[in-house]
Amino acid sequence: MQNRIATALGFANIAFVKYWGVRDAALNLALNDSISMNLSDATTVTTVEFGPLAEDTLAIDDQPANAAQTARVSRHLDHLRALAGVSLRARVVSRNSFPMGTGLASSAAGFAALTVAGAAALGLDLAERELSAVARLGSGSACRSVPGGFTRWHAGRDHASSYAETIAPPDYWDLRDVLAVVSTEHKAVGSAEGHTLAQTSPFLGARLADLPRRLARVQDALLARDLPMLGEELEAEAIALHVLAMTSRPSILYWEPATLEIMRLCPVWRAAGLLAYFTLDAGPNVHLICEAATVPGLLERLQALPSVQRVIVNGPAGPTHLLP
Ligand code: PMV
Repeated sequence: MQNRIATALGFANIAFVKYWGVRDAALNLALNDSISMNLSDATTVTTVEFGPLAEDTLAIDDQPANAAQTARVSRHLDHLRALAGVSLRARVVSRNSFPMGTGLASSAAGFAALTVAGAAALGLDLAERELSAVARLGSGSACRSVPGGFTRWHAGRDHASSYAETIAPPDYWDLRDVLAVVSTEHKAVGSAEGHTLAQTSPFLGARLADLPRRLARVQDALLARDLPMLGEELEAEAIALHVLAMTSRPSILYWEPATLEIMRLCPVWRAAGLLAYFTLDAGPNVHLICEAATVPGLLERLQALPSVQRVIVNGPAGPTHLLP
């Protein structure tokens, strides 16, 4: 092995059909397929350098990471070390395009970049779907950030069959994700706990029964570039995710008043000619999905709302990739 150092750039993603609920929490095997778009302006750059070190070290945004973060990264590197048959420790340096701990930086971009950089640093020659499956072990949604553009995570039955692949390249549709930031508080309940609690919602069965229909509609809408068809499913899907969270025991309520304010303004803005549809992750910030021409009008309206702290505009992005 010559070069034991590699750097990768990972993109976060926004799910159009969500991953919520695990079948196997150790392997992050999802209960259902999900579909997302990689985000051009929510990125993580990670360098992994293996060497004769006593232990793995991690720096995030120029600060030493805490013990829990370092242990999670170390466990992730163990999967790659096992594949390479080495026990070398690594120095990991990661930088996000947004500050961590604000609810904006994404574990998806981070674990996709860590996987691609770590595998290259160890000289592992893995196919994209294998990299995607390994990224999933770090954070489920990270598997969708490995391939480019619009991707679908096949829930699968086991480690090897649970990976994501591109269903349309980034230039297929000039969509935008206009992210209205209404809170930068750290989430009270993280997604790992949410996935486990999903099993306690009486609505989980109803959601899973409807998902094959929704997945087909969302994929068809994407391939047909049909925004009203996509948007109708997007909004219903975001509400379905939050209904599951709200009806879990204990209940998880991610919305802030400003979340609801923007959700309610969406149809008003559409009636005024701005074709945008909301979606939400496990948090209060609102993602508005629209075509590029709609962005200026949306920005004007969002920036006029006192509850909106910041707006970030993302286009579709390519795959997580190595940097020279
Ligand atoms: O990958 P995780 O464990 O951070 O879960 C992601 C959960 C959602 O963002 C709410 C949905 C999704 O599919 O991205």
